[in-house]
Amino acid sequence: MDKIIISGNGPLCGEVRVAGAKNAALPIIAASLLTPEPMKIGNIPGVRDISTILKLMELLGARVERDGTGLVIDCGEVNSVQAPYEMVKTIRASILLLGPLLARFGEADVSLPGGCAIGTRPVNEHISGLEALGAEVSIEGGYIKARAKRLRGASYTFDVPSVTATENLLMAAALADGITTLENCALEPEIPDLAQLLCAMGAKIRGAGTSSIRIEGVNTLQGTIHHVPPDRIETGTFLTAAAATRGDIIVQDTKPEFLQHVLGKLEQAGCLLQQGNDWIRLSTGGKRCRAVNVTTAPYPAFPTDMQAQFMALNSLAEGSATVVENIFENRFMHVAELQRMGADVELQGHTAIVHGQARLQGAPVMATDLRASACLIIAALAAEGETTIDRVYHLDRGYTNIDTKLADMGAVIRRE
Ligand code: EPZ
Repeated sequence: MDKIIISGNGPLCGEVRVAGAKNAALPIIAASLLTPEPMKIGNIPGVRDISTILKLMELLGARVERDGTGLVIDCGEVNSVQAPYEMVKTIRASILLLGPLLARFGEADVSLPGGCAIGTRPVNEHISGLEALGAEVSIEGGYIKARAKRLRGASYTFDVPSVTATENLLMAAALADGITTLENCALEPEIPDLAQLLCAMGAKIRGAGTSSIRIEGVNTLQGTIHHVPPDRIETGTFLTAAAATRGDIIVQDTKPEFLQHVLGKLEQAGCLLQQGNDWIRLSTGGKRCRAVNVTTAPYPAFPTDMQAQFMALNSLAEGSATVVENIFENRFMHVAELQRMGADVELQGHTAIVHGQARLQGAPVMATDLRASACLIIAALAAEGETTIDRVYHLDRGYTNIDTKLADMGAVIRRE
């Protein structure tokens, strides 16, 4: 079981390059199932969720050739439509195979992903959306069994703006017969990026990035080349770590427009931000941040995937603030671990009231999920003494070489 050991060592200073976005790469890889032609994808992040979904694709018969951060994936010989539980339980995003398999092959057997640490993670929107497109869906033995000779265009309104449900329906409708209109869609940047990829494959899509998307189905889609956009959450994580350690860093290869709300909150906290089209500089002048209230909500509001990181920042800031988690029902597990480091946090349902401390104390703590791991790393970087973070396999699901990237900016960090 990997551990990361960090000794608080003052401000982070220097530069860091951001990898491709895990949550953009996952639907892009799934979309390769929609065509028998090879797809060339660049800027793939070297994270475990990606290697897991690529193994799952190979299980279905896809051929994958990796070359550094690039890969070619060829789904011309796919000969199975079953995504087994043993694989799906390790990566919930496998649900993204459902739409493409059904659209291209007329059938799909994808294991129900099950919940994860942060919540039950229902998939009812995925299922009712595909039923609206004419699929027959049943749940048997823990599997979603979907059948449709040919999906047909329809109108569907999401109850909640689900990111992966919007992505699933976008991919399925691309090959449906007729026009599909999707309302109350998710607005996350991964959606217009996926739509751009599908259009490059020959799909006809309008409105991606707004709550209303129109898709005119086509009969076949072609292979293409695509570059994964930068990871907005990795960007926000490094910036928050620099803020917590009173540092001064430049994040390169990123897109500031993907995280404007987070940047606004960092400015409210007293950080000085400068930005270009692919870089952001955060400096603190060595000053302690001010506590800021955050409330998670669908994009473009404050992202739930940055909530844990800001909990660490507020634990070290001047004053008190509230952190409200509205997306997932159990995304405060990092609080108990922060409290072991001296953080003063009161939980009241979905609201955490955080009273900032000038310093936290290093301690042995345990990572419970991907973003909780990032929270504990940020707290450990700013704490006095040594922190050992256990179960950091969570971290590797979503961050590429975070320990070496932090060490290059002055952190005293090692993996055991
Ligand atoms: C995506 O998950 C991300 N994952 C999550 O990142 C992210 O936290 C989340 O969006 C919210 O931004 C990927 O993109 C692979 P949702 P997703 O469907 O699509 C409810 C990470 O580790 N809902 O947008 O699964 C659900 O309960 C992950 O990087 C339904 O009710 O999230 C939640 O309250 C963590 N029915 C809300 O919608 C459904 O069928 C948002 O969930 C689907 C979702």
